[in-house]
Amino acid sequence: MAYENLLFEVQDGVGILTFNRPKVLNALNAKTLEELDEVVRTVERDRAVKALVLTGAGEKAFIAGADIAAMATMTPAQARAFAERAHGVLERLALLPVPTLAAVNGYALGGGCEVALACDLVYASEAARFGQPEVNLGIIPGFGGTQRLTRRVGLMRALEMILTGDPMPAAQAKEVGLVLDVLPADKLLPHAVAQARKIASKGPVAVALAKRAVHAGADADLRVANELERQAFASSFATDDAREGMRAFTEKRPPQWKGA
Ligand code: COA
Repeated sequence: MAYENLLFEVQDGVGILTFNRPKVLNALNAKTLEELDEVVRTVERDRAVKALVLTGAGEKAFIAGADIAAMATMTPAQARAFAERAHGVLERLALLPVPTLAAVNGYALGGGCEVALACDLVYASEAARFGQPEVNLGIIPGFGGTQRLTRRVGLMRALEMILTGDPMPAAQAKEVGLVLDVLPADKLLPHAVAQARKIASKGPVAVALAKRAVHAGADADLRVANELERQAFASSFATDDAREGMRAFTEKRPPQWKGA
């Protein structure tokens, strides 16, 4: 399927989604959000895609934010609808049963930082810059930044980023937990894809259950969260993959996953 503002391909079970509006540093407009939603729904349905990598076209940007030209004339009601649309798409992205990996190859500002925050694993190139610069425009983050950033880096660091609007270099983003690893530009996408392939080679039901337990538990108190884990642990034993995985271990051979 051809998209206007995205590229999407599947290689060996790994979907690679590239935000592709390099002339405006891959800024997110309504069309891009709509296309992102289509890809997310495709990945939800298509069991052949076992992990999703997101990156940006061009040398400079992952995503330099929501499209400022499009936002400049929005009424409050239109801004609300735009934010609702983006929240819906990023919520679906965050809840995908397969892991999502952001390969942040440059600016990840505003909506770009918020897309990275909705991914499970974030890798960055040395040139990447993360920030929530909305206050420079007289607005605030609207794609989840005030909430997901706070949960990822803590309230005070999130406030500093959101209130100053300062971009954060990749090395500092790693220090504060926004990024897992910083790589040279030419190693970034291969590394993210290799990590995605590694995860794609595991039992897909176990991967999905583990992801769900971690995310659902992160928003719950510890007693509830541990109960969620016990339930997910028990349900993993209902799968053929659990029998196969443990049998393969004792038979000293690689497992053949069914995904069920
Ligand atoms: N929305 C719409 N267009 C954008 C954009 C955005 N978020 N970010 C960059 N662009 C456009 C620029 O307007 C410019 O278009 P032009 O060539 O028609 O003038 C083009 O992308 C290149 O950007 P430019 O500013 O010339 O590149 P730069 O290297 O000098 O600066 C940034 C890069 C990222 C620092 C700068 O583009 C910027 O501050 N962008 C806005 C970031 C932002 O506020 N994001 C949050 C939005 S809520």
